[in-house]
Amino acid sequence: MSNDGVNAGRRRFLVAATSVVGAAGAVGAATPFVGSWFPSAKAKAAGAPVKVNISKVEAGQQMVAEWRGQPVFIVRRTEEILANLGKLEGSVADPESAASVQPEYVDKKTRSIKPEILVLVGLCTHLGCAPSFRPEVAPADLGADWVGGYFCPCHGSRYDLAGRVYKAQPAPLNLPVPPYTYESDDVIIVGVDQEKA
Ligand code: FES
Repeated sequence: MSNDGVNAGRRRFLVAATSVVGAAGAVGAATPFVGSWFPSAKAKAAGAPVKVNISKVEAGQQMVAEWRGQPVFIVRRTEEILANLGKLEGSVADPESAASVQPEYVDKKTRSIKPEILVLVGLCTHLGCAPSFRPEVAPADLGADWVGGYFCPCHGSRYDLAGRVYKAQPAPLNLPVPPYTYESDDVIIVGVDQEKA
């Protein structure tokens, strides 16, 4: 019986992961698709770092890469999104990620190296589903107070656009920030720590 539960959870993740990859492909149809977004099967098997070209991600949009078989969400945040993070500090469970996973070289409040670029492991900290990117303000299904964030379709956990989980959700922790560094303004490498300045 417990295996059934694990398998059901895995199926949910696979379905969700397939749909986000499909969405990335749809964006690629409108603009030149960047092949290096996705690593080779060999690189994935080895858990190798992944280079990601973020130049096509427009303000307010997300792209999904993959690292170690996990979805990695990359969002180009607007000034408005960044301003909202400060207003949400009283509403999120771990505003400075004291208990959550993030490298020590990212800013405690923006959870990123550069404020505008957010990089997250896209797996809910409850049971590992892939949360949906919901950047719109006050959509009917999420309510008038929603200023954009992530919504987990499995059990309803809500996160803001720094991946910080709101209070009193099934998920206990913020979405993890993976190790990453910038090769250039347009290219980040996920899986490699930023060198100390
Ligand atoms: S797996 Fe996301 S809320 Fe349960």
